[in-house]
Amino acid sequence: MDYTPLAERYSKMVYNRCGKSGIKLPAVSLGLWHNFGSVDNFENGRSIIHRAFDRGITHFDLANNYGPLPGTAEENFGKILKRDFTGYLRDELILSTKAGYYMWPGPYGEWGSRKNLLSSLDQSLKRMQLEYVDIFYSHRPDPETPLEETMMALDTAVRQGKALYAGISNYKAPEAKKAFEILKQLGTPCLIHQPRYSMFDRWVENGLLDVLEEYGVGCIPFSPLAQGLLTDRYLKGIPENSRAAKAVFLKAADITEGRLEQIRALNEIAEQRNQSLAQMALVWLMKDKRITSVLVGASSVQQLDNNIDCLNNMLLSDGEINAIESILKRQV
Ligand SMILES: NC(=O)c1ccc[n+]([C@@H]2O[C@H](COP(=O)([O-])OP(=O)(O)OC[C@H]3O[C@@H](n4cnc5c(N)ncnc54)[C@H](OP(=O)(O)O)[C@@H]3O)[C@@H](O)[C@H]2O)c1
Repeated sequence: MDYTPLAERYSKMVYNRCGKSGIKLPAVSLGLWHNFGSVDNFENGRSIIHRAFDRGITHFDLANNYGPLPGTAEENFGKILKRDFTGYLRDELILSTKAGYYMWPGPYGEWGSRKNLLSSLDQSLKRMQLEYVDIFYSHRPDPETPLEETMMALDTAVRQGKALYAGISNYKAPEAKKAFEILKQLGTPCLIHQPRYSMFDRWVENGLLDVLEEYGVGCIPFSPLAQGLLTDRYLKGIPENSRAAKAVFLKAADITEGRLEQIRALNEIAEQRNQSLAQMALVWLMKDKRITSVLVGASSVQQLDNNIDCLNNMLLSDGEINAIESILKRQV
């Protein structure tokens, strides 16, 4: 199967400025944490990437350890890029990768040392057959490495031309603030922060979003659908091929009766809006203008389409916001 991108790919997507930078990101971006590894169906992953690009998704998010096996999401993505995104199409893409979680044995295979970050970036570039990534992230803060060392490694990656921008992920508000200060002093301002954020996990509202606004840093929430909980996926039990059935990152035990009641109640509001619950969950995040892009995952083209279609109905009324709020306040 040959791939020719749709000519009208940019006509319907919304693009938001990332903080106070020069970069715009699509309102919906695609992450390759799951469904793109060596254990997954390569052609299914390839179709999802094609559809994403055809619908205006220019941003694809990876990390050294995505798979499984770790590294194979980058390898597969590299093959897809080489086969289907030839010529100048690389210039139409914002590709990110990260280092910080366990990747190889010994003292240098994880966390935030300069050694780990820069070696890992070289490995990622090789796996993806790329000369540079657009965004290189420190995947998590390292309590044992001086923050200056981790940030200097990001700055070096940018100065070497192996990354165009620096980002951080999973940093709490005070440590994010320190990181932004250091990066600013180094002359490589932080482009973006990638925190977990969804209706079911709202820690970022407690200070982090304010810090991002203060420093002009963009925000790209990951797991905006709470790994599938904020969709219709689990309304009738746990499907065989679902993430909860694999029970590694999302477990059946997370889907309690209380949680299900909440999901059903949210689903009713979504139905009244003629939207899927997934779409409403994404729109709910985007109502805050500090959110640059929502970083979804998808195991099928249909799921991806459904998520992108949230852009057809982005307004939430005050009444809907209040009704959602009271459901989220319930004990689960
Ligand atoms: N920085 C970090 O530490 C970090 C951590 C985690 C993730 N991330 C990034 O964030 C990205 C997204 O994370 P995520 O995959 O957890 O996001 P998510 O969007 O919350 O969950 C994606 C999963 O939800 C289900 N789903 C998606 N759309 C659906 C729809 N319309 N209807 C029904 N079910 C739907 C699918 O589950 P099934 O597979 O069951 O079909 C899909 O795999 C990752 O790929 C990665 O790039 C970053």
